Amino acid sequence: MSPPERPSSTTRLNPKISPLAFFECLQSMDFEAAQRSSAIERKESTQRRQASDTTLYYGEIPFHTLEQILEQITAIHEEGYHNNVYADIDDIDINGCFVDLGSGAGRPVFAAACLHPFRSCIGIEIMSSLYASSLVTLGEYHKKLDSEADLHVLSDIREGGGSSDSDGSAMDYSSGEAGSHRPTSEVQFFHGSILDIDSECASSTESVFDWTKADVVLANSTCYKQDMVDQLSRLGRRMRRGAHFVSFSYQLDSAFFELVLSDRLCMSWGDADVFYHRRK
Ligand SMILES: C[S@@+](CC[C@H](N)C(=O)[O-])C[C@H]1O[C@@H](n2cnc3c(N)ncnc32)[C@H](O)[C@@H]1O
Repeated sequence: MSPPERPSSTTRLNPKISPLAFFECLQSMDFEAAQRSSAIERKESTQRRQASDTTLYYGEIPFHTLEQILEQITAIHEEGYHNNVYADIDDIDINGCFVDLGSGAGRPVFAAACLHPFRSCIGIEIMSSLYASSLVTLGEYHKKLDSEADLHVLSDIREGGGSSDSDGSAMDYSSGEAGSHRPTSEVQFFHGSILDIDSECASSTESVFDWTKADVVLANSTCYKQDMVDQLSRLGRRMRRGAHFVSFSYQLDSAFFELVLSDRLCMSWGDADVFYHRRK
């Protein structure tokens, strides 16, 4: 019997795989384990206030919901270009920096890194156990990227992909062939509160996050409280004009943001209202 044929080099080089297939290789990410460790950390907390703090409740954005959100942001951004919303703004970049405020075990950060050609993806999380889980998955993610670099060309979430604007600034999928991109290699997690990790007022945390670098901000804020969302709106003022801020269940009440669209999408706990804002 003849040995099985070895795959030719052309089949090994750059076969496109779906972002979901790549994402599903990250086996250390486990929703139930994250939910459990969040509950244990809340219970074990010596600070009673924190133990009963509903803002720390755990839930996740499913992969396909984040896919819908990123597609919607891309559509909003393209429409903005066509309507000259960005005519006098030259540094906004839909492929720039994605930030998840309250990143939990990291699911949306890794999903964004697979789904869209962001140059960097950042997560900020207050709970030590969840932050630690996200670092474990980050190790797995980098190992996967390093071990099979040639294979990791992902099909774009939009048909065709590639640059669609005359100046090329909106859709510059920098990773090579049209209709594909590589998973984002610059993925980073910060441990601390999203309310005081800001580079201008960082005090209790060592990490520093610079809001001015964020192009797409996501806050799975259903469990947050109004005053927390108001604080985030104030911090978000430091974002660049034209940048996107997506919040759940609470709309940003700020003269610095316009509500572009709202939607109702499926989350791990049921449906939630999703608000798409643009920094004015
Ligand atoms: C509903 S979960 C969302 C997790 C993740 N973003 C997702 O969608 O899969 C909200 C997360 O925000 C975190 N969180 C709550 N308050 C925070 C704060 N002040 N700073 C950082 N993270 C916070 C919680 O611990 C929790 O992990």
